[in-house]
Amino acid sequence: KKIVLAYSGGLDTSVIVKWLQDAYGAEVVTFTADLGQGEEIEPARAKAKASGVKEIFIEDVREEFVRDYVYPMVRANAVYEGLYLLGTSIARPLISKRLVEIAHETGADAVAHGATGKGNDQVRFELAFAALDPSLKVIAPWREWDLNSRTKLIAYAEQHGISVPVDKRGEAPFSVDANLWHTSSEGKALEDPAEEAPDFVYQRTEDPQSAPDTPEYVTVGFERGDAVSLNGKVMSPAELLTALNEIGRKHGVGRLDLVENRFVGMKSRGIYETPGGTILMAAHRGIEQITLDRGAMHLKDELMPRYARLVYEGFWFSPEREMLQAAIDESQRHVTGEVRVKLYKGSANVVGRSSAETLYSLQHVTFEEDEVYNQKDAEGFIRLNGLRLRLMADRKKRLGKN
Ligand code: ARG
Ligand code: SIN
Repeated sequence: KKIVLAYSGGLDTSVIVKWLQDAYGAEVVTFTADLGQGEEIEPARAKAKASGVKEIFIEDVREEFVRDYVYPMVRANAVYEGLYLLGTSIARPLISKRLVEIAHETGADAVAHGATGKGNDQVRFELAFAALDPSLKVIAPWREWDLNSRTKLIAYAEQHGISVPVDKRGEAPFSVDANLWHTSSEGKALEDPAEEAPDFVYQRTEDPQSAPDTPEYVTVGFERGDAVSLNGKVMSPAELLTALNEIGRKHGVGRLDLVENRFVGMKSRGIYETPGGTILMAAHRGIEQITLDRGAMHLKDELMPRYARLVYEGFWFSPEREMLQAAIDESQRHVTGEVRVKLYKGSANVVGRSSAETLYSLQHVTFEEDEVYNQKDAEGFIRLNGLRLRLMADRKKRLGKN
């Protein structure tokens, strides 16, 4: 029996390695991905080795993550429940895909993850496994073992000589998930949604109050809906997002305190930091403002919540997500040009946009004299649009009620 485990090298997944070896008598293969979480991933190698793991996969997937998962989602302007930029949700399909591929490469018959039985992540991993290879057995230790609390988990770790970081013992943390797009924090100090999150929860953005007093401007260049340059410099997707994160961090951009609806039915409170992503989403809206036709834009805006829910609920590898993606990608044909964004104490506002493919027509919109638009045309336009409203108003008058 061989099991491929999504392994961060942290406390939970280290316990899981040991537990899988004991409970299943299995050989464990580990996969650790650099998704831009800002932590060294190499230490995972020594830790896995020390736990008796022979096949250790450690990979930098940052470019693939931003290019094939984050960028398509940005084209959609995807936002869940009005606010959440889906940073954890969007990383799961890629991790799942690699786990399945590694299972095939190593001849493993099972895949395992460290998500609990209460959350969204288990669903995201397992729906991806179902889509990519339903013959693989799925093991979710959190749903099986009797280590059903953090206290028990820590006791088990200590018993088996797995080192427990100091901050995992005290009151401080929560569950943190990070990648190039965002950092999320949940649990412990955050579990009372009435209480403001303590400062120490924020780890990748300056407090907007202490951010610079002078605004900073950035110019993002887009080609067909994808950001391709920053301040005139052409960059790869991961390079660009890394650079935007640094600028966003400095200005305290992209903090969010949210109570959201998990797919399994309960509400949960999270703190999110999406510094570069918040700038990128604003900039993308900015370039769409001048390059997208109204009909296309409004249809996109109707589809967006649906698309966001599919990403949130783990249906990345589904026909309906792919259908929506095809429509969204088609809409981006002319979404090319440059956007200037002003960053100041936590805000990221679009202040300028330009494009060779613009639909903005000064001739038409100007408050000065023009030669292209006949204001008299508007009269009939309004008269016919108002026809049914007038008919109903007449009826109301006739009946004396609505
Ligand atoms: N609530 C967010 C989501 O469902 C973040 C989940 C964080 N996951 C984690 N393993 N810490 O996308
Ligand atoms: C977890 O349950 O592992 C984290 C929270 C979530 O997936 O929603």
